[in-house]
Amino acid sequence: MATEIRFGLIGLGLMGREFASAAARWSHLTNIDARPVIVAACDTNESTFGWFKQNVQTLGFTTTDYHALLDRQDVQAIYCAVPHHLHAQFYTDIVQAGKHLLGEKPFGIDLHANRTILSVIEKNPNVFVRCSSEFPFFPGGVAVIRALLEKDFGKIIEVESGILHSSDLNPKKAINWKRMIEYNGEYGCMGDLGLHALHIPLRFGWFPSRVQAQLSKIVRERPNAHGDLVPCTTWDNATIFGEVDLKDQQFPITFHTKRIAPGETNTWFIRVIGTRRSMEYSTKYPKTLKVMEYAEGGPQAWQHIDLGYESAYATITGRIFEFGFTDSILQMWGAFCDELANGRERMKQPFYCATPQEAHQSHLIFTQALESHSVRDRKSHGD
Ligand SMILES: NC(=O)c1ccc[n+]([C@@H]2O[C@H](COP(=O)([O-])OP(=O)(O)OC[C@H]3O[C@@H](n4cnc5c(N)ncnc54)[C@H](O)[C@@H]3O)[C@@H](O)[C@H]2O)c1
Repeated sequence: MATEIRFGLIGLGLMGREFASAAARWSHLTNIDARPVIVAACDTNESTFGWFKQNVQTLGFTTTDYHALLDRQDVQAIYCAVPHHLHAQFYTDIVQAGKHLLGEKPFGIDLHANRTILSVIEKNPNVFVRCSSEFPFFPGGVAVIRALLEKDFGKIIEVESGILHSSDLNPKKAINWKRMIEYNGEYGCMGDLGLHALHIPLRFGWFPSRVQAQLSKIVRERPNAHGDLVPCTTWDNATIFGEVDLKDQQFPITFHTKRIAPGETNTWFIRVIGTRRSMEYSTKYPKTLKVMEYAEGGPQAWQHIDLGYESAYATITGRIFEFGFTDSILQMWGAFCDELANGRERMKQPFYCATPQEAHQSHLIFTQALESHSVRDRKSHGD
């Protein structure tokens, strides 16, 4: 019998629905001995309840006050997917209530908020906390991770990763909380998108010692719900340049987080270039894994390998079929429940969800990126 983990959901928007859908098709996973059961849900917007009541048979409680959800004995774990300005208060209350947590990134609106969350987690070591990041669970991400664990890349020459969006190219797209500093934070696109680009590099210890960033605001006004133009205050695009300085090697690392990358719809990619092995994967061509193995003096030929449904956790889906975003969410939830139920050492596969410490490292990088940009800005204005 699978261990049941009774969940409460806080934030029933875009991501809240994705979790409920993943939990509803848990039967896809064939090698997991823990399963989420959603018993309670919270959102201040009551119009979100209908879909959940209709589709989540196990849901017995809805509320507009998350404290009422945290008071419930039947809730063991929480998925919290609310705007960034609420992360510090909500996540610390969840952890102090003794509930396990998968929290959405960026894990605090800024470094101060993130430190507050981290210190409460440290004081509650029996509570299991992870941060959401699903893209490494695409088969190409899994292949790169497996190769980094098992194969010799030689000396790393460079690493580049990113996540690219483009719907903001349309200046008529209405503003929402993700484009307002007070809800999304000073980080702008970095806080919103950054951990996706950083998760694999941070897992392999590639924390850059120095960071420089190029940040841009491209569309500075957007219509609000009434059609009036209002300031759009967040950074649209960020390219973060860093240098990884390990004992035996140094190499450049570049992270791209862009809301305005024309033609790109949720493109996540990673490139690891080494003297013996290089690998590249992008969700733009979700079946194609690029690999180059090099032996001294030998040919330099990239192989383009068609990937099937080669997931971290085994599923009923045939390996010849294609994998997509909702599958990566299901796999990430598999990793969360597996690690919560069995512990890191007895997980069914080795890649675990992003940790609070990794989320904290991402904050250190974004904060340095903001500082480097503002120093350059001041210099160029002669201040
Ligand atoms: N992992 C991913 O791929 C991914 C993608 C998008 C967003 N996110 C993250 O998920 C989080 C939520 O983003 P979203 O896109 O789901 O946003 P959303 O706006 O679609 O949903 C947020 C929900 O929170 C609710 N809410 C606001 N204040 C609340 C309160 N006080 N109490 C309870 N509910 C409240 C809103 O009514 C809304 O339904 C953010 O942290 C964001 O960065 C992650």
